[in-house]
Amino acid sequence: MRVGVLVFVAVVATAVATSQTPRSYQQEVEPIFIKECVECHGSERPKKGLDLSAGRGYAQLVNRKSVEVPELYLVAPGDPANSYLWHKLEHTAKEGKGMPRGLFSSRKLKEAELAIIRQWIEQGAQP
Ligand code: HEC
Repeated sequence: MRVGVLVFVAVVATAVATSQTPRSYQQEVEPIFIKECVECHGSERPKKGLDLSAGRGYAQLVNRKSVEVPELYLVAPGDPANSYLWHKLEHTAKEGKGMPRGLFSSRKLKEAELAIIRQWIEQGAQP
């Protein structure tokens, strides 16, 4: 009985700790973009002016208007549905192709990577 209560307390404590640590751009999102995007969105002539290279992406994305669809922010903290970045990654954007694109086609990021980015936006797009 007592052990059961302790296990229950431990599980709840872990759940609370996890939900209270919001996803971090620098720690969790930027590594995905460095791996998948900087080939085209690097510091030298980035596509659509969007530079996602190390240390630059956050300021370029959060509360910044999209070039393709200027009525949307690239990232609206807390609101993936109104974040144009999210539409590009989900392949639901009104303009251009889904990201990451290649020369002739586009593909989607892994489900686990998309989940991290979605949670990062939902949890307020922390640096
Ligand atoms: C092979 C080159 C290439 C890769 C790789 C690539 N992009 Fe792009 N990206 C483009 C081009 C070209 C455009 C403009 C045309 C279009 O939207 O298809 C663009 C446009 C965008 C836009 C729209 C910018 C705006 O202001 O409206 C976003 C957001 C974006 N990319 C994000 C990403 C992300 C995030 C990744 C990585 C997951 C990525 N891209 C990977 C070439 C690329």
